[in-house]
This record gives sequence, C-alpha cells and structure tokens, in this order.
Amino acid sequence: MATRSCLCVFLLLLVAFQPTMTMANPVLPSPRCSPVPGSNKEKFLFALNLHIYKAELFLRSSVGCGINDISPGLVKGPAPIGATLADLDKRTRNFFEESGLAGMDISGSDRSMAMANILLLKTPIPMPLLDVRPQAYAKYFDAINVTLKPPINVYADVNSFVVASVYAPYHINQYYAGIMPSISGHRERELAAGIALYEAASYGVLRSLLNDAANSTVPPYTSTVVNFTSLTAQMTYQLGGCGVKDEPLIVPPPLGAEKRTTTNVIAADANSLVYARTEREFLRILFRTGNATRPGGLFPCGFEGKLYHWILALKQS
Ligand SMILES: *[C@@H]1O[C@H](CO)[C@@H](O)[C@H](O)[C@H]1NC(C)=O
Ligand SMILES: *[C@@H]1O[C@H](CO)[C@@H](O)[C@H](O)[C@H]1NC(C)=O
Ligand SMILES: *[C@@H]1O[C@H](CO)[C@@H](O)[C@H](O)[C@H]1NC(C)=O
Ligand SMILES: *[C@@H]1O[C@H](CO)[C@@H](O)[C@H](O)[C@H]1NC(C)=O
Repeated sequence: MATRSCLCVFLLLLVAFQPTMTMANPVLPSPRCSPVPGSNKEKFLFALNLHIYKAELFLRSSVGCGINDISPGLVKGPAPIGATLADLDKRTRNFFEESGLAGMDISGSDRSMAMANILLLKTPIPMPLLDVRPQAYAKYFDAINVTLKPPINVYADVNSFVVASVYAPYHINQYYAGIMPSISGHRERELAAGIALYEAASYGVLRSLLNDAANSTVPPYTSTVVNFTSLTAQMTYQLGGCGVKDEPLIVPPPLGAEKRTTTNVIAADANSLVYARTEREFLRILFRTGNATRPGGLFPCGFEGKLYHWILALKQS
C-alpha cells in the first residue's frame, strides 16, 4: 500500500507529467540523444545485450533455466543475479517461454544462429552481468521519487511481472527503429527488420495483457495497472533524458491516435510511428543512473561490445 505522502508525490507527478506529454516530443535532438557511430556488426552486438537480457529474463522467470541450459556454450559469462520463477498463469508462462526461446533463435543457437551467422560471430557470445533481483526493479521508483510500501516484487504476480518485462521487447524494437536507417547490406537489413517486427509483436502481446487488466490493481497496492504504466513511462522519460518515448495505457486525447482516443495499447509518436531510441538512452535507463557511463541497475558491470566501450572512453554520459 502506498503511503499518503508518497501518494501525493505520485498524484503530483501524474499532473506534472501530463502537460509535458501533451506536447509532441518537447526535447529537441541534442548530442545526448544522437546515435553513436558504428559498423553494422557493432550495432548488432550492442543489441545482443538487450537480446540476452530478454532471453534470460523471460526463460528464467517462466521455466527456470537460462540460455546456456538450453543451448550449452552459446553465451559465456556470469549467471544473472537473483533470477527466479515468476508467479505466472499457464497462458502467460507459455508466452514468456516462447518469446524467450525466440530471443535465443534471433541471437543464435545450435539450431538457428540467425544473427551469429550473418555477422560471423564466434560463440560463446560474451554475456553481460545481469541483476534481475526484485530489488533491482524496485529501485527504479527512486528515479521518480515514488516510494512503494512494501517495495514492489515484480515476480509476485502476473501484472507486476508484465509491467516490468514489457520493456524487454519494447526496447529492442525501439533500438532497431533507431539503427534501421543506418544499417547497410541486404541481409543485414532483412535481419534488423525481421527482429524488430518480431519484437514489436511481443511488445503488442504484453501491452495487450496489460490492457486486459487495465483497471485491476497491482497487489498489494491500490494503484491500477494503468497507474503503473504511467509511472514506468515517467521513469524512462526521466532516466532516458530524450523526451517522451513511452506512454501509459490511457493518455489525454491529444496524444491518442488521430487525437480521438484515450486508449493507448501501443505507445507511438504523433504519427503513430514507434519512438526510436539511441544507444545512450538505453544505457541511462537500464543502468538506472541516467548516465550512460555509470553502470548499475539491471547491468551492474555495463554492456559488452565496442560501442559501449567507445561511449565509456569518450565519457559520453
Ligand atoms: C526527486 O527528488 C530530488 C531531490 O529532492 C529532486 O532533485 C528531483 O528533481 C526529483 N525528481 C523528480 C522526477 O521529481
Ligand atoms: C477501465 O475503466 C475505464 C473507465 O471506467 C473504462 O472506460 C474501460 O473500459 C475499463 N477498461 C477495462 C479493460 O475494463
Ligand atoms: C490512477 O489513475 C486514475 C486515472 O488516470 C486516477 O484517477 C487515479 O487518481 C490514479 N490513482 C492513483 C493512486 O494515483
Ligand atoms: C557519469 O558518470 C561518470 C562515471 O561515474 C562520471 O564521471 C560523470 O561525471 C557522470 N556524468 C554526469 C553528467 O553526471
């Protein structure tokens, strides 16, 4: 149950957030928001961090095993900290398993090797350290000064888990939307488009689950699923630092499709196109530090790959 004082902060934030959200993207493109130059391969390798996070989270929460348990030797690195089964129903569990396995197919496995084949990657693929403890997710509320009592346990029920995990496919989709224009080569473009479209569908499935539960509360709190999507959208806004690129399930009419609807199952910009994000925005959000060179959050030791190390070396926070 949220305390009274934190409810006030919560309501203030909702009010404070709405005017920002009614403007189309208020923040002009700044160097902080620009893509990092890199080769096709470096861009896909950056994405692999997101793919590995998604596959590990989805598989460990649904069936209790990770990438290497299913495809030994595919990735190399420490096991995620705090991975655990989520309390899911059969239908949801099956979806997370399916989408997690698909994430492995995309990155590469002994059966598919899609990305690994096209990019001529050597396996095992280095895997970043992941912190997926409930505390790691709960601390995200600090970014918007909201204190939930007790702190949220994202594994405790379907609604909480989907509220948190919907960002795994959404971020992958947003990343490919950002790099697509600069990917060269027929096969590489086909790969990027195929991945983005698959992950867009995964995002749609999860947002649709959230929408079915829109008005139900997220136990043990009195706030609804809609309220939580509003909070998580504020977190990514705050941490990403590049304007509104995520939206709650209910929006004011100026933000709805054709400005005629307040339902908003799929977040999209004023032209109903996916909001693209660039490398450093993901780092700021996933590190939970709002600083692309200060690892923490879900990636306590940062990302793997050249683009990330280049960002570090050039202090591109
Ligand atoms: C949270 O509180 C800190 C300290 O009072 C303040 O600097 C910051 O702007 C607040 N953040 C938000 C999102 O309100
Ligand atoms: C949630 O509540 C709103 C407002 O009462 C209503 O318009 C909407 O249809 C409800 N959504 C669902 C999925 O029940
Ligand atoms: C949840 O959202 C509804 C509709 O946007 C709002 O009226 C209500 O005050 C919010 N609840 C909390 C606890 O913030
Ligand atoms: C980002 O983090 C790095 C490493 O901790 C630090 O040196 C730098 O000052 C931070 N940048 C900003 C803008 O806070």
